Amino acid sequence: MTARTCLAIVLAAGEGTRMRSARPKVLHPLAGRSLLAHVLGGIAQAGVSTAVVIGPGEDAVAAEVKRVCPDAECFVQQERRGTAHAVLAARDAIERQADQILIVYGDTPLVQPASLSRLRAAIDGGAAVAVLGFRATDSTGYGRLIVEDGELVAIREDADASASERKTALCNGGTMALAGKTAPAILERIGDENRKHEFYLTDAVEIARGMALRAVAVEVEEDEMRGINTKKQLAEAEAVAQQRLRQAALDAGVTLIAPETVYLCADTKFGRDVVVEPFVVFGEKVTIEDGAVIHSFSHIAGAHIGKGVSVGPFARLRPGTRLGEGAHIGNFVEVKETVVEAGAKANHLTYLGDASVGVNANIGAGTITCNYDGAAKHRTEIGRDAFIGSNSALVAPVKIGEGAYVGSGSVITHDVPEGALALGRSRQIIKKDGAKRLRELKSLRAKKTSG
Ligand code: UD1
Ligand code: CA
Repeated sequence: MTARTCLAIVLAAGEGTRMRSARPKVLHPLAGRSLLAHVLGGIAQAGVSTAVVIGPGEDAVAAEVKRVCPDAECFVQQERRGTAHAVLAARDAIERQADQILIVYGDTPLVQPASLSRLRAAIDGGAAVAVLGFRATDSTGYGRLIVEDGELVAIREDADASASERKTALCNGGTMALAGKTAPAILERIGDENRKHEFYLTDAVEIARGMALRAVAVEVEEDEMRGINTKKQLAEAEAVAQQRLRQAALDAGVTLIAPETVYLCADTKFGRDVVVEPFVVFGEKVTIEDGAVIHSFSHIAGAHIGKGVSVGPFARLRPGTRLGEGAHIGNFVEVKETVVEAGAKANHLTYLGDASVGVNANIGAGTITCNYDGAAKHRTEIGRDAFIGSNSALVAPVKIGEGAYVGSGSVITHDVPEGALALGRSRQIIKKDGAKRLRELKSLRAKKTSG
């Protein structure tokens, strides 16, 4: 089968009005990446050439295609006239005559590569059309697969189905394979004689049979075939995606104390003996090395977490964060575009943005790197073994030398040389018996105003 050439066509056009969103449907995120990225990722594993059909002016969708699958070709469906019409928007690619054509919907992100292989195997076995089907708990909105004597005889759209056809539990998942040889003839014959006056791809089944060709249904789990037309379906698909990712993390040896409370991204990577406490959220591009502990209520995206690092509780790691071996990022600490080297600590209430923190440096509670002056971002460099006293403001651009010491409450606007002590605060004054005199003065004033 691997010798066969295959063209995958992803249907991704359309406004997705039932999502009630300004965002194109296929760009909604699921487990931290777009529906389209999931679909393209699934196909990539099957090793096929890819065409994506998008709507006119959908530049954001085209950009996402380019980002996740640079080799894919985009075709524009000028008018939204149904799934078969959308497939034919990729006519130029179809004419290049692949042995097999795989059609997947951009709003069906949970299909497993193994199911795509089964579908292609059915075409290899002599079918002209093969369709992934599933038994839906709630079949509203799905086309029904009408099977007689083991043969797929028709797909009836929900809107066009009779009452008895509607009772069929076996539904169309919206993933289809066609034999390359007969596909153009079948696709060209599809008309729009139905309630919605759309060109339904699903009519391919009856047309193939009319041409004395075979059609088959390949049944898979419902979870794989969840199509997303509404926010409710998006949330249901998210639950399935998270379930899969948590299971994979547990299988790989990650300790998830309460797996159902941890939200993972499709690309989260864990080393060995990592512990993730309850209620942690991972965004895109996070890698965690062996033995790290992520404490509760932390939010992490675009970060590399080194061996044995401790993060949180209540930490926020933003893109560009790199934490060296054994570093500590404690509660209410935010880190962005910052390298924190091995053994360095920022344990409480701190913002580190556009900074570098040297080996074993200690960042006191309430330290803020003032990286933004209202117009541009600037860098803060903190040398190894430096000590930053609590509640210091480091006004960037600024460098704190190796082993330097910044007194608590300092506002540092100039570089601090290696080994120096910097104090950038007003001097404290003491007035002997001043507290007593102040109280007397206050009570005198109070008497005057009340009298
Ligand atoms: C479709 C199937 C239905 C199946 C269901 C599975 C048809 C006619 N119906 O219905 O049998 O049970 O998926 O989820 O195929 N699209 C275009 N251009 C168009 C129309 C659609 O690109 O003109 C794309 C959409 O972006 C979407 C996909 O095709 O990703 C499916 O379209 P959608 O309108 O969601 O079809 P359903 O009504 O869900
Ligand atoms: Ca759909």
